[in-house]
Amino acid sequence: MHAFKQDDTPQPAPGRRNFLLGAPALVLALGSLSTSTRATAAPYGLPPLPYALDALAPVLSADTLAYHHGKHHKAYVDNLNRLTTGTDFAGLPLDEIVLRSARHATHAAVFNNAAQVWNHNFYWQSLRPQGGGEPPAELKRRLEEAFGSVAACKKELATASASQFGSGWAWLVADGERLRVVKTSNADLPLTQGLRPLLAIDVWEHAYYIDYQNRRVDYANALLDRLINWEFALENLHRRA
Ligand code: FE2
Repeated sequence: MHAFKQDDTPQPAPGRRNFLLGAPALVLALGSLSTSTRATAAPYGLPPLPYALDALAPVLSADTLAYHHGKHHKAYVDNLNRLTTGTDFAGLPLDEIVLRSARHATHAAVFNNAAQVWNHNFYWQSLRPQGGGEPPAELKRRLEEAFGSVAACKKELATASASQFGSGWAWLVADGERLRVVKTSNADLPLTQGLRPLLAIDVWEHAYYIDYQNRRVDYANALLDRLINWEFALENLHRRA
């Protein structure tokens, strides 16, 4: 994994030992979907951005990252702590909360906030400064097998981003050995469908409106051309459940 630059964004809560502490911890969480490791008690923390606030400019401005990470992402973390403290969910790994609360109407608020924490943790790592460009050779071969070309994969991701009605996410996923593009609504995520996420594009308006107003497809294409973290996708592809 490339070296992430830390900045002065909020730090995770002290004493929290695992799943929300940044890229290495998320790697463990992704690799433990079927092993269910119990964590210590909440509160969950807000992982720092893996780069400086202005590191993705001009594609994504420092203002966008400040609001998106410091306000929106933080609010999901705060809500998750408020909703789970003192419940059976408290202290469970984030992915386990997501899977246990999914499709249960009585746990909809827990699911929405836990999933949005998971999604945003994953989204920040799906981007990197000076990203885009040519994927690593192994991933490029897999993308060509699945989509015909890297350009066709990017086009499908941009189309999924633009065509998602309302808020949601576009994803590159592994469906068994097959790579696919899927989109999800609101907080939903591929984990609930048994799919392995490789990359995420946040298509909620808060992700792009400061910089792109209503031009969501321009935002998606800019991310794919200049920020997408193909190396992170390959790392996720190598992880087996
Ligand atoms: Fe978001």
